[in-house]
Amino acid sequence: MRIVIIGAGNVASVFGRLIKRANHEIIQVYSRDIIHAQSLANELNCAFEDDLNRLDMSADMYIVAIVDSALPGIYELFHVGDKLIVHTAGSVSKDVLKMVSLNYGVIYPLQSLRKDNPDLQLTIPLLIDGNSEAAFSTIKQFALTISPIVSRIDDEQRLKLHVAAVIVNNFTNYLYTLAANYCKKENIDFKMLQPLIEETALRIRDHAPGNMQTGPAARKDIATLNNHLLLLSKHPELKKMYLRMTDSIMNPEPC
Ligand SMILES: NC(=O)c1ccc[n+]([C@@H]2O[C@H](COP(=O)([O-])OP(=O)(O)OC[C@H]3O[C@@H](n4cnc5c(N)ncnc54)[C@H](OP(=O)(O)O)[C@@H]3O)[C@@H](O)[C@H]2O)c1
Repeated sequence: MRIVIIGAGNVASVFGRLIKRANHEIIQVYSRDIIHAQSLANELNCAFEDDLNRLDMSADMYIVAIVDSALPGIYELFHVGDKLIVHTAGSVSKDVLKMVSLNYGVIYPLQSLRKDNPDLQLTIPLLIDGNSEAAFSTIKQFALTISPIVSRIDDEQRLKLHVAAVIVNNFTNYLYTLAANYCKKENIDFKMLQPLIEETALRIRDHAPGNMQTGPAARKDIATLNNHLLLLSKHPELKKMYLRMTDSIMNPEPC
């Protein structure tokens, strides 16, 4: 397929590499910042543009990988007739594209993507949708050329999954950040926690996370909790988080 990529950030870059590897032809990259457009276009060996009036209209598919907040307004910026167009957002309805083209949909990567990660072996489940069976079928055929894991998910399910994705990925990574900062301040080596981090993630392949909980909060070990809180009085932000998480583990919401 002949593809135009709109956006030059993380998803645009990772998708661009995968699309190129799958032998599609990327004909143009658009970004509102010409330097960003040029940088990705150089890597993908295609044309670049910072003016939506000069979008190449000869593509088979347009992939819009820009910030969520800019998606609802894009119908004011350009139209592609009946050409297929998709966005890549988890929390935005596919219908933001209905005034941009007659044929539209979503290819949402359920994975954390960063353009500075060159690893193209990363497994990226693609959650796809289309506004018609024809659009869906073309999107599915295309998606299968860049990932072996492709599922049909509507707007509502995609939004629900996006919330869960933020919790397991973004929140977990933020907790790693807090722990790493704490280790630095306390002169201990965060790297020593790596096997523990990996084991925690591996266990939930085969077990429900709720059944795998260990630690002083799960054991209701008040003496240890108080020792920790004493030490954390030097780290007020982390102490707040520790208390909130401990309370949530000790008093879980009924399922
Ligand atoms: N990264 C992930 O892990 C991930 C995973 C799943 C889904 N997504 C979704 O994929 C989409 C892109 O995310 P990303 O991570 O690639 O973001 P990103 O790396 O921050 O890149 C955002 C892109 O949007 C452009 N942009 C920002 N504001 C804009 C505006 N007002 N008008 C037009 N373009 C604008 C930026 O252009 P400039 O370069 O000029 O700033 C940049 O090209 C989002 O919908 C996101 O929810 C991301």
